[in-house]
Amino acid sequence: MRVLVTGADGMLGICVVKLLEENKIDVIPIDFKSKHKAINIDICDTDAVFNVVDKTKPDFIIHTAAQTNVDLCSKEVDKAYKINALGTGVLAAVAAENDIPIIYISTDYVFDGNKDCAYTEFDIPNPLNDYGKSKLAGENIVKELCNKFFIVRTSWLFAPHGKNFPLNILEATKTRKELNVVSDQIGSPTYAKDLAEFLLSLLDNKLYGIYHFTNSGSCSWYDFTNKILEFADIKDVKVNPICTAEWPTPAKRPKNSVLRRYKLELLGKDNVRHWEVALKEFIREWNIVKL
Ligand SMILES: NC(=O)c1ccc[n+]([C@@H]2O[C@H](COP(=O)([O-])OP(=O)(O)OC[C@H]3O[C@@H](n4cnc5c(N)ncnc54)[C@H](OP(=O)(O)O)[C@@H]3O)[C@@H](O)[C@H]2O)c1
Repeated sequence: MRVLVTGADGMLGICVVKLLEENKIDVIPIDFKSKHKAINIDICDTDAVFNVVDKTKPDFIIHTAAQTNVDLCSKEVDKAYKINALGTGVLAAVAAENDIPIIYISTDYVFDGNKDCAYTEFDIPNPLNDYGKSKLAGENIVKELCNKFFIVRTSWLFAPHGKNFPLNILEATKTRKELNVVSDQIGSPTYAKDLAEFLLSLLDNKLYGIYHFTNSGSCSWYDFTNKILEFADIKDVKVNPICTAEWPTPAKRPKNSVLRRYKLELLGKDNVRHWEVALKEFIREWNIVKL
């Protein structure tokens, strides 16, 4: 099997490429201005995307590339839609034209956060910010153009590489002894490595459609921070809980973005490990990376 992976240099893309290679699956990694071995392609360049698919003939597409900076999406709205909606449309079109199944990674931010329990795959999206709106537009294009698609919504991704919350917190502790962290937004942290394992399992699954995938359990950013410091054995940093109003950002965030893996539950396949267990493993790997 040969799998084309977009966003191959990104946080999730790196985990996906590594896992596919470990499983002896041929990978065609593509990214924008790649510093590694990926083929340099802008996913919004229709000719380049169709050409690479024509030349390499993948059996599957895993589309992780996106503009993922939530606040930047609110400042550069056209660019957010260009990459997250139009770029996804190019991938969806090439997948449909060549009858290739596609996985599109989407987000908890398609929901408004007003629900008082976790969101299922059957809840109606209503994004609050331009990142969520552009990612939802990407979902709709995939649904319109493709028959064989998986839309996988995930949340609060972390890995020992790339840009993510635990790495930011660990970096901040090098210079600060007190951190203020939002305590009134809850979600489910997700280890990118665990998500990559789930995506691998979809390659021989024919039950196409929308899936939610996160680690199990949920917490606030404040709880998450305390666990990061506890597992990293950092005792000399004080964490203060603050509310969203005290931490204004250009893009509004949902208060509750916990995703329920309801489809996996219904299939009797919801055996995902707790985020704290995954976080402990992340800290072990981070300790190795920083040595
Ligand atoms: N991070 C999270 O917490 C989170 C939560 C929910 C869902 N997701 C979704 O999960 C997926 C992976 O997220 P991630 O955090 O791994 O993302 P990431 O680290 O930001 O990686 C995205 C990759 O896509 C590339 N890219 C951006 N625009 C491109 C273009 N026009 N053509 C080709 N490549 C382009 C980026 O390159 P540059 O770096 O050069 O821009 C980057 O290498 C995304 O679809 C995201 O929406 C993420």
